[in-house]
Amino acid sequence: MGVTVHPLSDALGAEIGGVDLGEPLDDGTIQEIHDAWMEHLVLLIRDQTIDDPQLVAFSGRFGELDGAPIGATPDGKVSAREYNEITVISNVVENGRPIGGLGNAESDWHTDMSSYEKPPAASMLYSLEIPPTGGDTSFCNMYRAYEVLPEDIKARVQDLKAVHDATLTSAGGLRHGFEPVTDVTKTPGAHHPILRTHPVTGRTALFLGRRTNAYIPGLSVKESEELLDTLWACATAPENIWTHTWKVGDLVMWDNRCAMHRRDEFDHSSRRIMHRTQLKGNHPYYAAAEAAPTAA
Ligand code: OGA
Ligand code: MN
Repeated sequence: MGVTVHPLSDALGAEIGGVDLGEPLDDGTIQEIHDAWMEHLVLLIRDQTIDDPQLVAFSGRFGELDGAPIGATPDGKVSAREYNEITVISNVVENGRPIGGLGNAESDWHTDMSSYEKPPAASMLYSLEIPPTGGDTSFCNMYRAYEVLPEDIKARVQDLKAVHDATLTSAGGLRHGFEPVTDVTKTPGAHHPILRTHPVTGRTALFLGRRTNAYIPGLSVKESEELLDTLWACATAPENIWTHTWKVGDLVMWDNRCAMHRRDEFDHSSRRIMHRTQLKGNHPYYAAAEAAPTAA
């Protein structure tokens, strides 16, 4: 059976059918999935039954795998894991210790690990247990966010960078070893261009990390706040979003270079367990006149 691709919204996202991730996939199939991914930014593959080695093997077909991030739980510690490439995202507590990161709280719009100099290119998130309600994950299209910006704002941001806060986790908690930010001009974290050239598609994306503690060096705090609010409003406009309601056995893969995501909270008395891999990424750059490179 061939690979099928069904777009899931006008904004982004497509469902891939006709693949069994538990089986070895040939290069042509991987290329078809890759092409759909570059076009739709986020892919959903339903009804999969895979174990960690199979998730790692599938993920590794799309690039070099990253180790699981340190500090995946608020105390910077996670339970011992069998596979270094697997990050557990879960609210489940075993023997008094969370088995994974993010808990059950809402996680606001973000790019994964953008406070790093080389944020991950992508993540694959596979669901093992999901709550009856809540815990939906939304994605927004950062190419489109750039394209709909007013021309004067496009021109204004093309030479600007923003600082991507390193102090907060995706769930909004203070990261182990950091002081709360009281002055955004001193926010610790990587400085990245606000416009980003996608290294595979050559397209321009708006590149934002998280809103809290963000700052645009060179501007007054007031100017920076106003400009950031405008950019964030474009990125997270309802028509720029697709929301996924999970079922067990779903694999969702997002391109962290051109899509942001957020997650709804859910009742802590229910269990949610996801296993995640991530791919290494490039140092973000903006090359205004760059021609689209050939496919990776
Ligand atoms: C992540 C993340 C969202 C979710 O793994 O980086 O934000 O739905 N997960 O668990
Ligand atoms: Mn995330």
